[in-house]
Amino acid sequence: MSDKKVFFTGGAGFIAAHTIPILLERGYSVRIFDNMTRGDRDRVNEFVQTGKVELVEKDVRYGGGVREAIRGCTHAIHFATVSINKSIADPHESIDINMTGNHNVFAAAADEGVERLVFASSASVYGDPQKLPMHEDDQLNPLTPYCISKRAGEDLLGFYQRQKGLSWNALRFFNVYGPGQKIEAYYTSVINHFIQRLRAGQPPIIDGKGEQSMDFVHVTDLAKAVVAALESEQANLPINIGTGIDTSIATLAKILIDAVGVDVEPQFNPRDVLVSRRAADITRAREVLGWEPEISVQQGMTELVKASA
Ligand SMILES: NC(=O)c1ccc[n+]([C@@H]2O[C@H](COP(=O)([O-])OP(=O)(O)OC[C@H]3O[C@@H](n4cnc5c(N)ncnc54)[C@H](O)[C@@H]3O)[C@@H](O)[C@H]2O)c1
Repeated sequence: MSDKKVFFTGGAGFIAAHTIPILLERGYSVRIFDNMTRGDRDRVNEFVQTGKVELVEKDVRYGGGVREAIRGCTHAIHFATVSINKSIADPHESIDINMTGNHNVFAAAADEGVERLVFASSASVYGDPQKLPMHEDDQLNPLTPYCISKRAGEDLLGFYQRQKGLSWNALRFFNVYGPGQKIEAYYTSVINHFIQRLRAGQPPIIDGKGEQSMDFVHVTDLAKAVVAALESEQANLPINIGTGIDTSIATLAKILIDAVGVDVEPQFNPRDVLVSRRAADITRAREVLGWEPEISVQQGMTELVKASA
């Protein structure tokens, strides 16, 4: 039996559900630490039945519980968070969970001597990018309590590295999508919205010319990057995880029309929209993690439509 054990906050959530099978395959056992506010209990129960996964149902806001649960774990993945929309609606709760929670996890990991911690940061630390593709050394301009806490989390990891020798990687996830995602996801909810309209035989409605773009990265690819970041030789870096390809909303609409297989054209709503675009420079992910996204947006979206039929 392997003695590699991952302390996994937010381990009952969407991205974790795709990461845990890879961890098990690679010989880790997993201690999920999640307060189950958004967790998928059925999925967690399936994992627990393998005998290699346990659930500690607690909150990252309480440092004592974190410290107790991290004991005996060799690695840590920190995902527990409240989302962007909730952070705008309730900054107090967001700061509490995202800032205090980050600190509780990082301090405990440093004190308990975990070998590597992987932190889920976000592309939103860049704010509206000045240029594409977005590089890790570009200026950061986090705009909401959620994004501010992600950036602060990266800085705090630097502190515990210098102070206590904590080894970490912070992954700046771009627009993650895939099976099991909650429909209200901040950026990617547009995917579900379009699919629902298309299934009802209605055209997707696009504001402006649909030039706004996102860098959609499939959760299966992303989960591989998380595990690679847990094991990479080089560490203590923020690393972009995207595909490097910006897909406009107009292109997304076309891909989904084909995937659903309906004979409609997107409808454009003529109004001024702020065109924001996103694409990651993934040179560092390639070099440091040996990681390469394998699922194209076309393929990933088509499979998503099939899976949710
Ligand atoms: N999904 C994306 O597009 C995306 C993009 C960028 C960054 N991220 C980051 O990736 C990570 C995982 O995202 P996800 O999409 O799987 O989110 P998710 O909401 O599906 O999972 C988060 C989990 O954290 C748990 N949680 C929330 N508050 C908690 C608390 N106080 N204590 C303990 N557990 C708590 C929830 O119950 C849930 O199971 C998050 O840190 C998120 O900010 C996600």
